This record gives sequence, C-alpha cells and structure tokens, in this order.
Amino acid sequence: MQTSPKTSTAVAKTLEPGSIDVTLRINGKSHTLQIEPRVTLLDALRERIGLTGTKKGCDRGQCGACTVLVDGRRINSCLTLAVMHEDAEITTIEGLARGDELHPMQAAFIKHDGFQCGYCTPGQIVSAVGLLAEGCPTSDEGIRECMSGNLCRCGAYPGIVAAVREVHQTQTSNG
Ligand code: FES
Ligand code: FES
Repeated sequence: MQTSPKTSTAVAKTLEPGSIDVTLRINGKSHTLQIEPRVTLLDALRERIGLTGTKKGCDRGQCGACTVLVDGRRINSCLTLAVMHEDAEITTIEGLARGDELHPMQAAFIKHDGFQCGYCTPGQIVSAVGLLAEGCPTSDEGIRECMSGNLCRCGAYPGIVAAVREVHQTQTSNG
C-alpha cells in the first residue's frame, strides 16, 4: 500500500531522532515544540508553528526575507537555531498589527507602494521597524545603508525608503 505524503510527514515528525522540548515566546505567546536542536528559527516559525508571514528567500543569510526581531533587534532567522532563543522575545510580521489596526510601518508601505510582488515585504517591514528602534541614521542614504541586508528583486526600494522616512518623521514629530 502506498503511503500518502501527509502520513509520511506526520510519521517523520514523530520519529525525529534527538528531538528536545524548546519553548519560544513569539508575538507575546509561548509555544513549546519538540524539535531537533538543528532546526533553524525560520523553519520553527514557518513549518512548526505555522507563522508563514516570515519568508524563506535564500535560506543562507543573503536576502533578508526571513528577518524577525529578537529582543527588538533584527536577525536573519534562517541563520540561527530556534533552540538558541528560548529566553528571548521574538517578533514576526504577524506580531506588528494591533488587532485590525496596522502597524504604522505596514500602513506606510501600503501608502508609498513599498512592494510589488510582496515576497520580500514582511522582512522589509520588520527590518524597518528594527532599524528605527536601533537608532540608525535616517537620511535617505542612511536608510538605504541600514536596509541593505534586505533585497527586493522587484526594485520597490524608492517606496520602501519613503515609507521608512515618513514613519521616522511622524515618530520624531510626536516626540
Ligand atoms: S532567507 Fe534568510 S536571509 Fe534569505
Ligand atoms: S516586492 Fe517583490 S521582491 Fe520585493
């Protein structure tokens, strides 16, 4: 009898050798997973928890599509292991909105056409939120430099810079 792909996946997960319990705090909620220590944070988020907003582009630290915040700082989730972040506060794109109210950076990306296909967009938005919190230079040049780890194959860069600039100006004028 042929095994369906769904059954194979379920069996493979339960039989993973060397699985350990890992508890991650993501967007204010705790998730306990049984995973192998080698599982990346990106795969834990997408494949185990179902938070697929964080995208896998290159899976090797070159595109920034997988950017999440760990204790408020930007990190490529494809380059780090989930088990290394048990005591951290992890924020993904799903954690930015407050209910139906978009995060100001999400609203600004929409307003300024900061995306085309949208694949890089979650990483771009999370990275933009992180860079303002990090106190990066906020001239257009500074924004470009600080966002240089996030690649966009569609070339939506002018809209992205405009969105980041506007959110920064709003934050500054609101004190
Ligand atoms: S998927 Fe992580 S940097 Fe490209
Ligand atoms: S909007 Fe398509 S990759 Fe950036």
